[in-house]
Parts: sequence; structure tokens; C-alpha cells
Amino acid sequence: MSPQSQARGCLITIEGIDGAGKSTQVARLAAILAGRGHRLVTTREPGATPLGREVRRMVLGRELALAPDAELLLFLADRAEHVATVIAPALADGAVVLCDRFADSTMAYQGHGRGRDLAHVRRWNAESSAGVVPDLTLLLDCPIDLGTERRRRETDRYQVLDRTFHERVRAGFLAEAAAAPDRVRRIDASRPLADVGVEVERVTIDWLDTHGFRAAAASASA
Ligand code: TYD
Repeated sequence: MSPQSQARGCLITIEGIDGAGKSTQVARLAAILAGRGHRLVTTREPGATPLGREVRRMVLGRELALAPDAELLLFLADRAEHVATVIAPALADGAVVLCDRFADSTMAYQGHGRGRDLAHVRRWNAESSAGVVPDLTLLLDCPIDLGTERRRRETDRYQVLDRTFHERVRAGFLAEAAAAPDRVRRIDASRPLADVGVEVERVTIDWLDTHGFRAAAASASA
């Protein structure tokens, strides 16, 4: 059992390439966890705070030309504000925090995708997260072509980048997962959404049960 788990809430992150189906799975899982009576905070990066919404407009919009390190620092500013004002207080309050993208996205997109130095990105990720590390990460993994097909109407800064960029991002996520096998569970997101949803739910609830995060509804019926 993680020593942090009992003393505080837990942070569950959902990661994956554009078009992997994260938003659908986050919404489904949030409804299930809330239905079980967990105290739940659902959030996302970038853009969950007032500062983050400004950052999101700058980094995802295509009006500004951004130097790669400026782009990296904007994502890190979003994270620092998000951790300080949303995630850390929710964890201190004992909540289950469900976050759509977190530091693995910065490793995958700015590190592996944009080619920034990985040790540098890792160090700045840790700084901006104030030591907060996800307890469980669900990596929704699928081939690039499937992700492209699912997001074909979207045109933000990353979604218009070429296939090789997204191949590097996918490989980056898989490398991060391989480096942290106790934390990251890879889920095959090329299957039908309902099947992916069942596995997302099973992995999450197993983890919560194993780590002592009993829901009000679950303990009442136990
Ligand atoms: P969003 O519209 O939220 O996409 P998705 O639904 O796929 O999460 O856009 C987030 C984009 O920002 C996505 O293309 C990944 C990118 N991103 C980074 O490049 N670095 C980061 O650290 C984060 C959190 C996101």
C-alpha cells in the first residue's frame, strides 16, 4: 500500500494520444465513482484554473508562434497553478482526484514529441508538481491512425502536427509507462468504447479497493 494513500486522497490520471478517447472515459469513470459515493474531484490539464484557461488559449490556439521552451514553460505554469490551487487541496481533503492529462503528457509531447531534453523536462515536471505524483495512471493506447480518425474535425496546435510527431508522442507515453510499471497501466484503447470503459472501471476500482479507498455506497452495502 502506498504510504501516501491513507493519509490523503489519491490522484488518478488518464493519459494518451489525441483521439485515444480520454474525455469519454473520464466522463464515464467520474459518473461511476461518484455513483459509488467517492468524494471526487474531476479536473484536467491544461485549463482547469483561471490562469490555466489563459494558458490553454495561448498553447492550443495557433495565433502565437511559441518557442519550444516557452511552450514547455506555459504547460508547467498551468501545472504549478493547478497543483497549488486544485489538486493539492483536494488530496489534503481526502478526495479521489481524477485528472485528464498530467505530467506524462508533458514528457510525451514536449519531451519525446518536441524533442526537448528528457531529463530537463522530468526535472521541471517534478518542480511544477510540487512533489505530487499520480498514484495510478491509465494510459489509453491506440494506433495513431485510429486517433487521427477520431479527432479529424479538430484543428488545434497539436492536432494539426504530422503523423511522425504523434508517433513520437505515442512511443513517449509507452516509454514512460515502461519506466513506471507500478504506477502506469496500459489499456488497449483500439477496442470498442464500451470494452475500454469496462477495463478502465475494473482497473480503477481494483486499485481503490486494494488501497483502502472505500466508497460510501460500497461500504454501506458491504
Ligand atoms: P485537449 O483539447 O484537452 O485534448 P485532449 O482532449 O486530447 O486532452 O488538448 C490538450 C492538448 O495539449 C493535447 O494535444 C496535448 C497537449 N499537451 C501538451 O502538449 N503538454 C502537456 O503537458 C499537456 C497537459 C497537454
